[in-house]
Amino acid sequence: MVREWDPRTASPAEIASLLDTLNAVLAADLPLDPPWRESSLREYLSEVMPGERRISWVAQAERAAGADGADGAAQAGPGAQMGPGAIVGHVQVLLLGDIGVLEVLVHPAARRTGLGRELLLLAARRVYQEGFRSIGVEVVGDTPAVAFYEALRFSREYVETRSVLDLTTVDWSALTEMATDAGPGYRVEFCPGGPPDELIEAYARAKAESRDTDDVELRPSSYDPQRLRDSLDTLHRRGMKPYIVLAIHDGTGEVAGLTEVVVPAQHPTRADQYDTIVAQAHRGHGIDRAIKARMLLELRSAEPELAEVQTWNAQANEAMLKVNAELGYRPDREWCEYSVDVAELVHRLDAAR
Ligand SMILES: CC(C)(COP(=O)(O)OP(=O)(O)OC[C@H]1O[C@@H](n2cnc3c(N)ncnc32)[C@H](O)[C@@H]1OP(=O)(O)O)[C@@H](O)C(=O)NCCC(=O)NCCS
Repeated sequence: MVREWDPRTASPAEIASLLDTLNAVLAADLPLDPPWRESSLREYLSEVMPGERRISWVAQAERAAGADGADGAAQAGPGAQMGPGAIVGHVQVLLLGDIGVLEVLVHPAARRTGLGRELLLLAARRVYQEGFRSIGVEVVGDTPAVAFYEALRFSREYVETRSVLDLTTVDWSALTEMATDAGPGYRVEFCPGGPPDELIEAYARAKAESRDTDDVELRPSSYDPQRLRDSLDTLHRRGMKPYIVLAIHDGTGEVAGLTEVVVPAQHPTRADQYDTIVAQAHRGHGIDRAIKARMLLELRSAEPELAEVQTWNAQANEAMLKVNAELGYRPDREWCEYSVDVAELVHRLDAAR
């Protein structure tokens, strides 16, 4: 049974069931990723930036799937009994700008029955009806999602590499030296929670400057002060704690460099490294390495549960990849962006039914 679903009003049992499915998916597709927890999961699924909307649907089991001994049920682990009412599939679309950003999830024991395609078509129809032009999706390399989206003729737009840093491998004394290596004329500041209000404008300017040169992303970025405040506020509401390290140029007070890490309540042992930016005029002073090293030192005391940090980089961004390698990040997988024209997709899938 497939129906539209609002995580804000969903029952605690539904949220728990979706979490089981998400963790069964992770165990099957990304077994080295930490399982997710329930903390702030409802908020993670419901909160959005002003002006954005997220619409979700779920597929619920009508009978005890896996009772016939299907392989996938065994893989799913003890937490994922797919009894009647269990959420075995989920799709959500985030409407922003002129695109819908899609996420589809099907329990490993319920795959290859056409459920993924059915959920995708439901969301695509809505995106089309709402007047949006295209659908974008993040697809993790070396998982069944690649064949799924390629079978549906989505095209690959962009590939990044995800890298993971295992904090037990870090040479903390070398890192302490790197952190003090930003060159004279700069001071480095740690800002848990976000940049202080008096630096918001300089911070937004630094982000805007990098807009054309750095990675394209599906996740929202923030280039003006109000959008930046909204973005920080949204992160907090979704249970994602932002940490920022800034390099300030003493002479001008400008933000010369910044690095952003988020520790999500849903998987607090693995943090996400977001943007790292060094403004053009301040490159060549080792700021990139210094601010990232300082961030790791600060996180070590601020987040004692933290074991890993993951980050995504364009394969062409050699300078950033070099610094990450020095810090101990190891390339993990390809992370791809695919997109499709919504009208074309909906008409093609409807015609095939
Ligand atoms: C991608 C995903 C949604 C597909 O769900 P599904 O219900 O198995 O997909 P469908 O049964 O509708 O498959 C539709 C078509 O996609 C293709 N396809 C799907 N899985 C495939 C696989 N493992 N190998 C080859 N082709 C595949 C096939 O062409 C299939 O049609 P067919 O079965 O008639 O041959 C599911 O594998 C999934 O949830 N993956 C995790 C996605 C995710 O978000 N990951 C992020 C965290 S890891």
